[in-house]
Amino acid sequence: MNNLPIGLFDSGIGGTSIWKEVIKLLPNENTIYLADSKNAPYGEKSSDEILALSIKNTELLITKGCKLIIIACNTATTNAIEYLRKNYNIPFIGIEPAIKPAALLSKTGAIGVLATKGTLTSKLFEKTTKEYANNITHIEQDGEGLVSLIEQGKLNSPEIKQLLEIYIKPMLTYNIDHLVLGCTHYPYLIPQIKNIVGDKVKIIDSGEAVAKQTKAILEKIHLNIEVKTAVSHQFYININKTVLQNILNDVTVNFNVEELEF
Ligand code: DGL
Repeated sequence: MNNLPIGLFDSGIGGTSIWKEVIKLLPNENTIYLADSKNAPYGEKSSDEILALSIKNTELLITKGCKLIIIACNTATTNAIEYLRKNYNIPFIGIEPAIKPAALLSKTGAIGVLATKGTLTSKLFEKTTKEYANNITHIEQDGEGLVSLIEQGKLNSPEIKQLLEIYIKPMLTYNIDHLVLGCTHYPYLIPQIKNIVGDKVKIIDSGEAVAKQTKAILEKIHLNIEVKTAVSHQFYININKTVLQNILNDVTVNFNVEELEF
């Protein structure tokens, strides 16, 4: 059982930012990653549609024998994790915008949150915000268009630069000192975001926290791998695989990318 893979899914290639943190912290674990790029962006879909897609991905990962599932997508987590935990007998780790640490660490009393519409309008996001950011100013911005451009491999394009400026510059007028990246695609934009916000704004994403949580849960339920064997990392994508291969070109471990209908 311990040798079974950790499953991860995202609306596309963004969740690889989480996968990279997971394999850094848990180098002995096997993984299977689903990139549902055919259906990206999830963030523009209704809550019911996001739930249906999350169920489809979960069932495929269960069929493939995963021991735990990381929902490497804020939009899917905030719209589906409650249902998935209730209806499937497998541990789930989710990812939510890191409002809590940003609010606790803020000195100016103002933080920015860049996330998808699907995340920002979810009940879970509303609950987290009420709980942890009630006493501070939080400027929420829908990053419409960013996921699609990243899925097209246009990471360093003028279109991305322009959208980021439109979305982030107004936040700076509120004197934010933390910017929460509430979408797993956005860590790939950190260099461009840094060019806009400079040194005074700390950029927060949740990748490392998810990896730590995964480690803690696997140890708690005694499903972690203790002895190193040959490690396998399998990626499945339901469109042309080039864009996924490109985002993985800094990875030094062995992995396999395959196109699959799902
Ligand atoms: N990576 C997904 C997230 O974290 C992107 C959602 C989308 O496809 O719009 O929210």
